Amino acid sequence: MLLSRNGITRLVATGVYAVPLRGFSTAAGGSSGAVAALGARGGSTVALGEKEATRLPQEREEVAERHAKGQKENVSYWGVPPSKVTKDDGTAWNWSCFRPWETYKADLSIDLKKHHAPLTALDKLAFWTVKSMRFPTDIFFQRRYGCRAMMLETVAAVPGMVGGMLLHCKSLRRFEHSGGWIKALLEEAENERMHLMTFMEVAKPRWYERALVFAVQGVFFNAYFLGYLISPKFAHRVVGYLEEEAIHSYTEFLKELDNGNIENVPAPAIAIDYWQLPKGSTLRDVVMVVRADEAHHRDVNHFASDIHYQGRELKEAPAPIGYH
Ligand SMILES: [Fe+2]
Ligand SMILES: [Fe+2]
Repeated sequence: MLLSRNGITRLVATGVYAVPLRGFSTAAGGSSGAVAALGARGGSTVALGEKEATRLPQEREEVAERHAKGQKENVSYWGVPPSKVTKDDGTAWNWSCFRPWETYKADLSIDLKKHHAPLTALDKLAFWTVKSMRFPTDIFFQRRYGCRAMMLETVAAVPGMVGGMLLHCKSLRRFEHSGGWIKALLEEAENERMHLMTFMEVAKPRWYERALVFAVQGVFFNAYFLGYLISPKFAHRVVGYLEEEAIHSYTEFLKELDNGNIENVPAPAIAIDYWQLPKGSTLRDVVMVVRADEAHHRDVNHFASDIHYQGRELKEAPAPIGYH
């Protein structure tokens, strides 16, 4: 079956994994016909290492032989084959950590200056909590914005996952829909994690930075978990303000790139594919799209907090899924 989204084609073979696969080939550049000929899940080894790529067809051969002898039971489930994925130009998709249909073009027209005025006591607490966290990070990182971005993304990817997980559990407990908020928050977590995967390519963490991330994650995950249980209104507001700070940090990052204090190196390949950037894009282009993402996260979280302020539950207002 051919699916197309974002101008990129993916092949998904439908069928039951119960057909002898003798002669199965993992050659790149397969077509829908080739997949159909398999009569089973189409296989691609683009995401596998060389060793695994050899092992998978061997295992398939053995399974096929057993099936041919009438021995239907499986003794190995090694390597559930991924769908065959290609770019729209027919070349192989090289990432197993994300797929073409998860990529997008960032909306750079988003208003970066929007700010939620903290009027209530709770909002002021959220605002000053975030401001007070800024102080130690400024001292620790100073103007090392690449490193700063990488480290802060390890924190930024936590709230969406915690909030999404708690809403997921709530949906199960209460036998009710989530209004799409589980998905929206998990999308945010994944998007933040992709920011981290990108900045890892331009700044390598040192041992003490890894140790710091370890400690901060232990504290922040639990604090946010408890905070979200007690007051999701406050938790989302904190994230909204964190995102406002992130926009500020990336703006400073851009200034450093523009005045030559940070070298504007070529964009990492992962970033070019994830944000559908043109070939020849640079770190500056990457920071621009990441900053736009942060502005979207800001909107989503302030919106979520406002829903609670209205005395409503998130499920009552459809979530901005796919809001990039
Ligand atoms: Fe981020
Ligand atoms: Fe963010």
